[in-house]
Amino acid sequence: SFSTTASSAHQQPTISRITVIGGGQMGSGIAQVAATNKHEVTLVDVSQAALDRGQGYMAASLKRVAKKKYATDEQAQAQFVDEIMSRVSLSTKPTDAVSRADLVIEAVVENLKVKQELFAQLSKAAPAMAILASNTSSLPIGKIAEHLDDASKRRFIGLHFFNPVPQMKLVEVVRTSEADEAVVESAVAFVKAIGKSPAVCKDTPGFIVNRLLLPYMMEAIRLLERDVASAQDIDTAMKLGAGYPMGPFELCDYVGLDTIKFVVDGWHASGEGLAGNPLFAPSKKLDELVKQGRLGVKTGKGFYDY
Ligand code: CAA
Ligand code: NAD
Repeated sequence: SFSTTASSAHQQPTISRITVIGGGQMGSGIAQVAATNKHEVTLVDVSQAALDRGQGYMAASLKRVAKKKYATDEQAQAQFVDEIMSRVSLSTKPTDAVSRADLVIEAVVENLKVKQELFAQLSKAAPAMAILASNTSSLPIGKIAEHLDDASKRRFIGLHFFNPVPQMKLVEVVRTSEADEAVVESAVAFVKAIGKSPAVCKDTPGFIVNRLLLPYMMEAIRLLERDVASAQDIDTAMKLGAGYPMGPFELCDYVGLDTIKFVVDGWHASGEGLAGNPLFAPSKKLDELVKQGRLGVKTGKGFYDY
């Protein structure tokens, strides 16, 4: 029976089928973790080559996990990897791939227009009750959902994972002012079911972690620009003096300098409430490195050579 005051929590199906759009660094990690925790996963990318690459990331990461789990037993290691990989199907057709999904997680390139166009299609192709989520690092969730119908806005949230996904325990669950409470609850339950810890927060630029992490990274770059210390010494200082697993320059290289530049430039120019904030002012050093194609670990060079 229906009540006008009851939330739709009871109508929100348990999440078992996940479709992940974008099989790069993040999407392949999300697919891997969901499949490891017994979900049926479809991973989507633009080409077979991109899917092969994503599958390669998953296999390599799962092999590391398997080696830890079954130290000397190679057969058990292979079985572990195969069993998890058997729950992941691959597709280049996003609308087909979401047709039976309980949850769609988008992890494509950090570009508002691309994400908006994608969700315009996905919101029509996915079942009406399916939760729609973006893994964006810096774009407002409400902005990505801006052109969707009201019902789709109510089932649209942020699910922000951290790099490397198999290792990092946090997922930020980003609640827009329009999101249905039942959808947020269901997403929180999903995050726990895949062995991660949720932190629920409002839809503000950078959510929690990146709002604190980006100023830290940019301040480290400015220390270097002022020649206070070398990148190595700053990294050593933060690892040994503050207990961080990576120093700020190692972390910048790990995340990708292009991504960091995209985020701070976007916020400095137009981010709600962040426009003109000196914490996000452009850095000559960062701009130069990006211009030279030194994007970090992924291109073999960044602040460091790899
Ligand atoms: N897959 C599976 N297992 C992995 C793995 C992966 N990708 N990475 C590490 N492991 C496991 C392995 O078992 C590994 O042992 P082996 O090397 O024997 O296989 C074990 O973890 C230890 O790993 P490492 O020796 O490489 O290093 P570590 O103990 O220092 O851990 C780390 C690595 C977890 C990445 C750690 O350095 C760390 O926490 N770094 C900071 C990462 C961070 O801050 N991420 C957030 C970035 S910001 C972001 O993501 C948001 C955004 O929007 C930009
Ligand atoms: P990536 O470049 O490794 O992967 C992006 C993938 O998306 C590529 O395989 C690309 O082919 C695919 N793609 C692009 N357009 C597509 C489309 N229309 N349909 C299907 N696939 C498409 O990038 P990434 O580092 O995995 O980042 C993905 C998202 O996750 C971004 O929004 C990023 O801001 C966010 N994020 C990144 C990090 C990080 O540390 N790298 C951390 C958290 C969140």
